[in-house]
Amino acid sequence: MSAHRPPLFQRVAIIGLGLIGGSLAAAIREQGLARTVVAGSRSTRTLEQGLALGLIDEGSQDLAVAVRGADLVFVATPVSSMGAVLKALRPGLAERAIVTDGGSVKGAVIAEARRALGDHFPRFVPGHPIAGKEKSGVEAADAGLYRQHRVILTPTPDTDPGATARVNALWAAVGAEVLEMAPDHHDRVLAETSHLPHLLAFSLVDTLARQGDSTEIFRYAAGGFRDFTRIASSDPVMWHDIFRENRDAVLEALALFRDGIDRFQNAIEHNDDEALMGVMTRANAARAHFLAMNERTSYTRARHSDDETGMTQQSNPTFLARPGGRLNGRLRVPGDKSMSHRAIMLASLAEGTTTVEGFLEGEDALATLQAFRDMGVLIEGPHHGQVIVHGVGLHGLKAPSKPLYMGNSGTSMRLLTGLLAGQAFDTELTGDESLSKRPMERVAGPLREMGARIDTGEGGRPPVRIHGGQTLKGIHYPLPMASAQVKSAVLLAGLYAEGDTSVTEPAPTRDHTERMLGGFGVPVRRDGATSTVTGGTPLAAGPLDVPADISSAAFFLVGASIAEGSELTLPHVGVNPTRTGVIDILKLMGADIRLENPRDSGGEPVADLVVRSAPLKGIEIPRELVPLAIDEFPAIFIAAACAQGETVLRGAEELRVKESDRIQVMADGLAALGVEHEVYEDGIRIVGGPFGGGEVDSHGDHRIAMSFAMAALRASAPITIRRCANVATSFPGFADLARGAGLDLEVHASKENA
Ligand code: S3P
Repeated sequence: MSAHRPPLFQRVAIIGLGLIGGSLAAAIREQGLARTVVAGSRSTRTLEQGLALGLIDEGSQDLAVAVRGADLVFVATPVSSMGAVLKALRPGLAERAIVTDGGSVKGAVIAEARRALGDHFPRFVPGHPIAGKEKSGVEAADAGLYRQHRVILTPTPDTDPGATARVNALWAAVGAEVLEMAPDHHDRVLAETSHLPHLLAFSLVDTLARQGDSTEIFRYAAGGFRDFTRIASSDPVMWHDIFRENRDAVLEALALFRDGIDRFQNAIEHNDDEALMGVMTRANAARAHFLAMNERTSYTRARHSDDETGMTQQSNPTFLARPGGRLNGRLRVPGDKSMSHRAIMLASLAEGTTTVEGFLEGEDALATLQAFRDMGVLIEGPHHGQVIVHGVGLHGLKAPSKPLYMGNSGTSMRLLTGLLAGQAFDTELTGDESLSKRPMERVAGPLREMGARIDTGEGGRPPVRIHGGQTLKGIHYPLPMASAQVKSAVLLAGLYAEGDTSVTEPAPTRDHTERMLGGFGVPVRRDGATSTVTGGTPLAAGPLDVPADISSAAFFLVGASIAEGSELTLPHVGVNPTRTGVIDILKLMGADIRLENPRDSGGEPVADLVVRSAPLKGIEIPRELVPLAIDEFPAIFIAAACAQGETVLRGAEELRVKESDRIQVMADGLAALGVEHEVYEDGIRIVGGPFGGGEVDSHGDHRIAMSFAMAALRASAPITIRRCANVATSFPGFADLARGAGLDLEVHASKENA
């Protein structure tokens, strides 16, 4: 395949033909990246092996001879020998030759290179391929070693950018992901992430081996010991060099670690369970977060990485929903998202320990949970929906060490903005691509009226910077739009304000904040459309039960309604009257939905929902129901597409600023299936009737993805739905649950961005 491309280099010289050098030679060969590959090595045996393995065309023990005529020289010898090696090859270097290296310490190598190369130094591009195996030597050379591995280039201000670009192109051509950073930054990062763990592994094995009865210890050493000390099998000479050459950064990392170990020791000595649990729960969460970032994936997928394939972890799946089928059985959908956020927030601010059951282990709620961990709250779990929050009191949060990342979650960002406006410390809130486009001034505005200092980014969007230490005073705020998030943000700030804070809403919106505050012993007085809270009242911890999310149930209410022969029971669903608009709308369309066993669960009404298929008819959706069904419209649009006649929605402009522009993205999806419709600025008209299959882009919007999956029950051909990773924000396990009920749904890996 490469034969028709001119090679990147004419003659490449590899100095030091071990695993690293030999693998690059092999990859260059495989990809046809150079006409000739030469090796320089002190060992004739190595050179002979290189020739015999077909890795090189020529070899020389004289390094100056080996590099003669080369336009690229790659030095892959131990870092401690780098100075001497560069000095030895310098006389043979052609003027245009680019020199690069593979040393794992950059500061020391650059200093040596400057001395040894003199006026040739600008053509030296310091590099570090982060790849290796336990085997070493030229016989372990592997053309695929660098594929999907990172290579860090650390050019200095003197390095010729043209030379850097060519080395970058070489590594990219052998399949590596190339990054650039400053040399001292590289050395610090590597000291923490690679050198320190190796040091600890060597040290632990040595410490135990020195004990009198070490055979005894090793005989009983279990998987933990083997896993932790695997890297103590690495090459001692190489690591000796690294610890010496990166001395300062390694010592710094070691000092940091020693502080951590001291804290651990203290906690054990003083039976400080909270501190101990704090270390472990934070470490668990931090590791999940790190895996997620590394895989560019989500919290949930990283948390379950042990039992999933690498493929699923890295992908942004596509749903393939086949036409037909019906839904039957009894299924419990995950916990309510709105309540899960509020449970973590209020329990963290309470005095005492709160056990939350039914918590939604979806990414949005996990982003809130992580934010409070980052502010010093000890939170155990989640484990099968149970979370134990050790509240720190109204004034017990600590400044986070970095910006709080809210992922896809608007609720996290808006409610936290209110809550953080009253703290003594500064915070910054960031989010993913979708959240970074959503309006934040709607909360920042009223909070500023209360005395908060808040900056939003360009166009009033994230990041949101909150300056702590302000004195807040209570205000009365008439909400310009029906938004539970804005209402909640103001009420939460009101907990920290002098006097009373009240909000009046233009139409009823979900009132979980008001109800849950009451449950925590902070009464919210309600007078018609106005809710009032008095600042300074402490919150008291208590058990909390989060019911199943009616917004997640909505997909199944629609699915079972439209697929003939369906009957589903959805137990323990929250049926707070500010959330049941979807049931009212579907019933107006003719749906057969019954609420059984209505009961109260910790101040929230709950029931089992029973839905049977029924012929639906188009309606004009009553405006007063819009805020009460605001998250369910994607599913309702599918019901409308299956109904007889037209369905008209107006007064729903808020849909344009959800996780996506839900009017336009749904309209585009409906168009792909051939559903007749007309878009308005504040709504849509949908003409029901038979429709086909096609390809739909969810734009990373969870609710749109799940709605179109349900549409397949009535489509005449398969529906492919792209970018479905964010389904995990609100409904982890959706595909399995839907399949179990009868939907013919496949999840395919795909590497698209969220
Ligand atoms: C939510 C309020 C609604 C809703 C969102 C959750 C909440 O947003 O769409 O999914 O938990 O308060 P708005 O307040 O923007 O309407």
